Amino acid sequence: MKIFVVGNGAREAAIKEAVNACESIDEADLVIIGPEKPICEGLADEIGSKCIAVNKKFSQLESSKLFAKDFMSRHGIKHPKIVARAPFVVKQDGLCAGKGVTVHTQDCFVEEYIDGEEISVMSLFDGKTLLNFVPLRDFKRLSADKDAPNTGGMAAYCPVVLTKEQKDKLDVYLKQLESALIAEGADFTGFIYSGLIWSGDWYVLEYNVRLGDPETQALLTHLKTDFKEILIAAAQKRLDTVKLEYKDGFSACLVVAAQGYPDLPVTGDRIELPADPDVKVYLANALQKDGKLYSIGGRVLSLCTNSDDPFPVLKAFAKNVKMEHKYYRKDIHIS
Ligand code: GLY
Repeated sequence: MKIFVVGNGAREAAIKEAVNACESIDEADLVIIGPEKPICEGLADEIGSKCIAVNKKFSQLESSKLFAKDFMSRHGIKHPKIVARAPFVVKQDGLCAGKGVTVHTQDCFVEEYIDGEEISVMSLFDGKTLLNFVPLRDFKRLSADKDAPNTGGMAAYCPVVLTKEQKDKLDVYLKQLESALIAEGADFTGFIYSGLIWSGDWYVLEYNVRLGDPETQALLTHLKTDFKEILIAAAQKRLDTVKLEYKDGFSACLVVAAQGYPDLPVTGDRIELPADPDVKVYLANALQKDGKLYSIGGRVLSLCTNSDDPFPVLKAFAKNVKMEHKYYRKDIHIS
């Protein structure tokens, strides 16, 4: 089976390596779409049955927060409640030099705030079975500062160690999701990502209709089962026969970004990588030219490894990457 992967980020680089992807879509037996944009534009519907990606209808789970809320409400899936729907007015308390009032008339809503521990679960659906991968944690903020800007993700690791109650309730939620997709006649084969928060039960913060980045790099580092065989089983609608096996310890991904990311990353730096066979490097915004490597965007490299304590290994590697304007999070650890 030849598999073609649509997309050019580090997530897609990891998938391409795991499935030994082919170079041309014309010769492919299976096509996987990585990024959300072509999925939400309906590329899976255009390609047809040899495509592994959510169809346009269910891609609204990511592209329309109201579609996702309605879907969850119909199936009793817990999620933060909507407390106000547009139009509404937000007023800051105190003196704001005339800038304390914002009027919201477009399609938007305010939802309740839930404070808690977050995890991500990536699942693969084949129309009958939802195959769930090990829970992961990602680090979306640029730094440990709670007001730091959100990024596409600066690091991720798996597995997240859960209590028995958390595990049991996660199983209940994932069964609910599977039943909901079946009840709604979802007939796509594709990935669904649940962003969950714990507050005595799991609440869904968001759905994505694709694999996460950098969660995928950590997951594929951790997976012992052949990812290509999993995808073939999905395409043949026999995910119920797949048994997932993982390595021991933890698997993690640390992103090396360009300074200035996410607003205005510095580009054009020459990059030289240290030699360490224990660390796998996936290129994102990095370009090979005349045998040399250059940064061309925000998240440049994904560094991955598996061990009992992977982040010190990854941070040591990141420190030794030669790139003038590099930035990576030094505070991250398995928690
Ligand atoms: N890391 C979060 C995402 O892929 O959306």
